[in-house]
Amino acid sequence: MSVAKVLAVANQKGGVGKTTTVACLGAAYAELGERVLLVDLDPQACLTFSLGLESRDLESTAYQVLLGKAEPGAAVRGLAEGPDLLPAGIELTGCEAVLAPMSDREHRLGSALEALTADYDQILIDCPPALGLLTLNGLVAADSLLVPVQAELLAFRGVDQLLDTVEYEVQNGLNPRLTVLGVLPTQYDPRTRHAKQVIAAISDTYGLAVLEPAIPRSVRFAEAPSAGRTVLATARRSRGAEAYRELARRLLAG
Ligand SMILES: Nc1ncnc2c1ncn2[C@@H]1O[C@H](COP(=O)(O)OP(=O)(O)OP(=O)(O)O)[C@@H](O)[C@H]1O
Ligand SMILES: [Mg+2]
Repeated sequence: MSVAKVLAVANQKGGVGKTTTVACLGAAYAELGERVLLVDLDPQACLTFSLGLESRDLESTAYQVLLGKAEPGAAVRGLAEGPDLLPAGIELTGCEAVLAPMSDREHRLGSALEALTADYDQILIDCPPALGLLTLNGLVAADSLLVPVQAELLAFRGVDQLLDTVEYEVQNGLNPRLTVLGVLPTQYDPRTRHAKQVIAAISDTYGLAVLEPAIPRSVRFAEAPSAGRTVLATARRSRGAEAYRELARRLLAG
């Protein structure tokens, strides 16, 4: 019996490619035959929408699961593209306030996912752009963390705040087994010297691994969600799709 590897994708900075990375890396894992579960922890539910589900049609979402009001398995939906999804809905907005008084408030997701780890090889968690209780739940449920970073000036301001949270709150307490895989450069334009400098600076400043390949900037990424698919389906041979496939192969190879 296999036990799923759980990867949290987090960065409190908005628009850096967290949701795109969860969707595309998940689709790439599925192409390789892995059983994949995606978890949408963002009240904006972008992952859920972009994969073709409407929150209002869902009886239960991550919200009910976090509060123990629904069995995790009952909230999970299958997707045409391969992975399964534990969807989000707007009600997640109020979730942190409801969780706050609970003694196990940071462990709710991890406990819920235990019921599912035997059914999957890879579980990918899309965290919201904040360092609140939802993201903490993602970090506590995970074995490893991937930090997408937009390869441009000032993009990595805030990475130190995330790493402080990871070290002091998570690794030194809530979840000592969390390892930081590294940063993934996204929206990367290899023609600009500047982008390379930013990546080198992140690596130097924080001593973090820089995951390869960097994900190229491409309009294909913005086009895919309207089809309810990822670029792996809508632009199969695009450089962006191939980059996520290569990333999946490298992460699987360890
Ligand atoms: N490699 C890329 N090249 C071009 N556009 C991209 C790329 N990756 C993502 N995008 C686009 O950038 C926008 C933000 O991406 P995404 O939603 O994945 O970021 P996010 O970090 O999840 O954002 P949020 O913090 O709001 O949750 C989206 O419109 C997406 O289509
Ligand atoms: Mg997102």
